[in-house]
Amino acid sequence: MSLIERLGLTALHRIDPETGHGLSLTALRSGLVPLPGLVTSSRLAVTVAGLALPNPVGLAAGYDKNAVALAPLARAGFGFVEVGAATPRPQPGNPRPRLFRLTEDRAVINRFGFNNQGAEAIGARLAARQRGPVPVGLNLGANKDSDDRAGDFARVLASCGPHVDFATVNVSSPNTEKLRDLQGPAALAALLDRVMQARAALPRPIPVFLKIAPDLVPDEIAAIAEVAMAAGLAGIIATNTTLSREGLKSASRDETGGLSGAPLFEKSTRVLALLSQATGGRLPLIGVGGISSPEQVLEKLRAGASAVQVYSALVYQGFSLVPAIARGIDAALAAQGIGNVAQVTGTGRGAWL
Ligand code: FNR
Repeated sequence: MSLIERLGLTALHRIDPETGHGLSLTALRSGLVPLPGLVTSSRLAVTVAGLALPNPVGLAAGYDKNAVALAPLARAGFGFVEVGAATPRPQPGNPRPRLFRLTEDRAVINRFGFNNQGAEAIGARLAARQRGPVPVGLNLGANKDSDDRAGDFARVLASCGPHVDFATVNVSSPNTEKLRDLQGPAALAALLDRVMQARAALPRPIPVFLKIAPDLVPDEIAAIAEVAMAAGLAGIIATNTTLSREGLKSASRDETGGLSGAPLFEKSTRVLALLSQATGGRLPLIGVGGISSPEQVLEKLRAGASAVQVYSALVYQGFSLVPAIARGIDAALAAQGIGNVAQVTGTGRGAWL
């Protein structure tokens, strides 16, 4: 991390977290954050669910909810970028404060509740973007007051799908009441049926992923894997934030919401390994939760991931972490004589089961 970045982060951590989050987006858009451009190599480049990724390190959903920073994010060193969640209609989300830094725990709690400008505004930005080598996907959400949540996912996919490279059905946010009930096998199968119909109607069908919660027992994970494969999904993203508060020290630990960052690493990696076992490697998996180093990326890959996403670690380590992680993986692969990152996937799953 450079001195400038350290000073910038220190300043951002002195202000209210949500204001700091907004300022970080503004800094990115105004060119204040030094960006590395494309980070790739023959070892890092990997194809996941038909998506050609320059490297396997993506940005997780929820940082750029309204797709306002697509161009700088594509130059930040990520191998792919997920924006959103977008709901059909704009909605304000929960009252502030709703974002908390747990600095001692290297963690974050959020209860945003899908605040976003809606599918129309977000879709217009996605349509106007310059397409490049870094795939861009959209996280799909449902309006809080919707009486047809399954239909909401299909509607956002229908309107924004033509402008993105992939989409993610997010039934795992803890901040919209009863949303996670859609992870039950019958509700999930019905929901995915509608989403896949919307996908089939797109001018160019895109890969659709499902994002699941970390707070599931092994039987639930196995059932979700079956439903996802039967529905023809492209893959599963594991995981979203957790409701667990185990082992936290920070003053904000009892805030309501989803916990992300370092304390989520083990739990989310275990879910990943269980999914890998349940799918037998037939479905690509994307690992997310608590990653802050190249070693942790390699651990997610060994547990069964084909690619990963990061978010909370950026709050503590800044955007320079992204190229540092990608180049660190490249160096580790080179040192071990591994020709491509895909060769690591699933090689250490047993250690997590
Ligand atoms: C999130 N996350 C999230 N996930 C999602 O699918 N849709 C969303 O809209 C959001 N919003 C969101 C906001 C904030 C402030 C945070 C911190 C997180 C979850 C995120 O994508 C990721 O799954 C978790 O944060 C775990 O990864 P990290 O943060 O531990 O690397």
